[in-house]
Amino acid sequence: MTGIVVLGSTNMDLVAYVARAPKHGETVTGREFRTIPGGKGANQAVAAARAGGDVAMIGAVGADEFGVRLRHTLTSSGVDTDLLHTAEGPSGTAHIVVDDEGGNAIVVVPGANGTLTALGPGEETLISTAASLLLQLELPLSAVLDGARAAKRHGVRTILTPAPVQPLPPELLTATDLLVPNEHEAAALAGVADPHAAAEVLLRQVPEVVITLGAAGCLYAARGAEPVTVPAPKVTAVDTTGAGDTFVGALAVAIGEGRPMDAATRWASAAAALCVQRHGASTSMPYRPEIDEAAS
Ligand code: RIB
Ligand code: NA
Repeated sequence: MTGIVVLGSTNMDLVAYVARAPKHGETVTGREFRTIPGGKGANQAVAAARAGGDVAMIGAVGADEFGVRLRHTLTSSGVDTDLLHTAEGPSGTAHIVVDDEGGNAIVVVPGANGTLTALGPGEETLISTAASLLLQLELPLSAVLDGARAAKRHGVRTILTPAPVQPLPPELLTATDLLVPNEHEAAALAGVADPHAAAEVLLRQVPEVVITLGAAGCLYAARGAEPVTVPAPKVTAVDTTGAGDTFVGALAVAIGEGRPMDAATRWASAAAALCVQRHGASTSMPYRPEIDEAAS
């Protein structure tokens, strides 16, 4: 039992697969369309549960068919959804274009996610029982801050994925134990492109940072220690959607089991490498035995 609570978004991903993304004002013909359950919060919850974590999700789905499917995806992966609210109106949607290189461009329309502006006593009680709280930035910042404050009050470790990237309030950074940006988010937050330099800047604000570097793996840095680059397995990516979320979900499980960070990041990289070889977000997230095999 690792006790992971995820406070975050649920989106139905509306995905168009196309040779190359259209330029501004251009129309291109796609190859295929799929609706796939996603959202950074739900993705991290599904990834952590499949990796073997004991996971509960705080969030909101809409009162529509997407909401039913989003909830089902979580429960069928073993995520506790007692505090996944059903809000009036539509579920969150993510409009995604995936190109032949496996890269993507995404527009997120928050829908129900936008209704979760504050947490109540039930949410605080759930957070207080956890070892780790996973946060991203697809819910209103007021709710994210409520969650971070509750975690601080109860000595719960916070792992923040700063995506979609935006300026972070000092209070959120103070309450963050581990920050996990990708290289672009790290550069935006630190104001410097080189990952080592960015990590150095970010460590003035949080005690530990893992910068994910796509195919190049990740960079782990902590105050008072030499940064470590952990390579990723060499694979061919068909769809990188949700790879960062898979990494974070698996990482939280490994940390919860007390593994040292070099082993934990290596295992999480193996999970993310499995994710990029398959289509979609939740649909591509591996189960523990596959991760163990890929990491061995
Ligand atoms: O991180 C990937 C996710 O971002 C997608 O599943 C999509 O829903 C967007 O929120
Ligand atoms: Na994928």
